[in-house]
Amino acid sequence: MSVSPYFHPEMETLSRSGIEALQSERLRATVRHCMNSPFYKKRFAECGLTPDDIRTPADLYKIPFTTKQDLRDTYPFGIASVPLEKCVRLHSSSGTTGNPTVVLHSARDLDQWAEAVARCLWMVGCRPDDVFQNSSGYGMFTGGLGFQYGAERLGMLTVPAGAGNTLRQIKFFTDFGTTVVHAIPSYAGRLYEVMCQNGIDPRRDTKLRTLVIGAEPHSEDTRRRIEDMLGVKAYNSFGMSEMCGPGVAFECPEQNGMHIWEDYYIVEIVDPDTLEPVPDGEVGELVLTTINREAMPLLRYRTRDLTRILPGDCPCGRAHKRLDRMKGRSDDMIILKGVNIFPIQIETVLMKYQELASDYLITLESHEDNDMMRVEVEFKEEYLDDYARLQNLERDITRRLRDEILVTPLVRLVPKGTLPVSEGKAVRVKDLRKQY
Ligand code: COA
Ligand code: AMP
Ligand code: ZN
Repeated sequence: MSVSPYFHPEMETLSRSGIEALQSERLRATVRHCMNSPFYKKRFAECGLTPDDIRTPADLYKIPFTTKQDLRDTYPFGIASVPLEKCVRLHSSSGTTGNPTVVLHSARDLDQWAEAVARCLWMVGCRPDDVFQNSSGYGMFTGGLGFQYGAERLGMLTVPAGAGNTLRQIKFFTDFGTTVVHAIPSYAGRLYEVMCQNGIDPRRDTKLRTLVIGAEPHSEDTRRRIEDMLGVKAYNSFGMSEMCGPGVAFECPEQNGMHIWEDYYIVEIVDPDTLEPVPDGEVGELVLTTINREAMPLLRYRTRDLTRILPGDCPCGRAHKRLDRMKGRSDDMIILKGVNIFPIQIETVLMKYQELASDYLITLESHEDNDMMRVEVEFKEEYLDDYARLQNLERDITRRLRDEILVTPLVRLVPKGTLPVSEGKAVRVKDLRKQY
């Protein structure tokens, strides 16, 4: 019996006109539903808009963008479109400072999310006889539970290994016959190095076949190198907490752009400065409207991710648009070890210490194939001889920074005048990470 290449044939093979009709219908329902959100109700009233003004995606331009700042301003629950009793899960992602971004999910949202992730995994050939191992963090990071529920929905045996413990991850590969792994690109490199150090050849000693990589920007060369190292096919996966998590856009077997599921999202690409739409095929900021969410739909959310819509049809038969791999960000967010960090979060912690001067430098680098962050910060002259105090301070700053940014930085206090003086605007972040 031949197995369908589609998980949801009726949705995955919709024609362009079918997608557009469904989008209009779901958009109208979403906008009506958003009037239950105190935030959107007020916003529509302020603009003199009513739900009847939004009939098709062509009307979206009338609605103001929703931003991360809006999520912070309404923290924690002010944007929800359902009462809290209807919500069954909360995820959060880094905010710039102070409040993180909170995303609420109803039971229906979780069900739809699992379906979307299962659809992505099925698309790249995952089947119930596969063994799926997930190296994402399982806390608030959506890559953990997001892939977990999707892989279970598809029917695979799942290994929720979580982040870290690389030797144990590799033991699971060999012992459990893992065939599919989800890992961020930089960690895929670490997995390979540790396998080599322990005499394990991924082709000979494991059944690895498919790698799902995402969460941080990476090039086509990086993908090919990772594929060669591990002997797998690697598929780019795009998602973000505000949209639910993984499962937003995913490469098909053609490995040429990520299909964004247009029965869940309406895509716009805008110029990040003028916020005007850019012509098809040109790079700009991705703006997404959710049309299949219950607890917390978002209208015209500015993702700050830079990409473009790939022109032309995909030979796989899916008419859902394809996003090119992410080209960067329109803000200063850093992604380190799959964790989003804003430099201002670091500055805010540093500013709390009266012993410190104002100059600091964040360097991202790779040590033994593990990415890391070094934070060098100048201290005031009067503490030059107070060695014990400086040592304690380094420990204390490390702890506070780890609490704030969720990765452990290497903190070094240096005498005033040590850090390079930059001309013009201070250079605060240097990225020296190894690219695979
Ligand atoms: N995924 C999985 N494991 C990772 C990782 C990643 N992105 N980055 C690093 N690690 C591993 C390290 O290799 C190390 O294990 P090892 O020494 O056995 O090889 C272990 O995690 C701890 O790393 P370390 O750098 O010492 O810790 P940290 O305190 O700076 O960072 C992490 C802690 C890795 C747990 C944290 O960065 C994390 O949870 N990252 C995953 C984020 C994620 O899942 N994002 C999902 C996006 S979909
Ligand atoms: P989070 O909300 O923590 O899941 O992080 C979402 C962000 O991670 C996105 O806005 C992107 O900046 C980044 N990201 C996710 N997937 C990818 C990918 N495949 N390629 C590049 N960046 C990605
Ligand atoms: Zn395709």
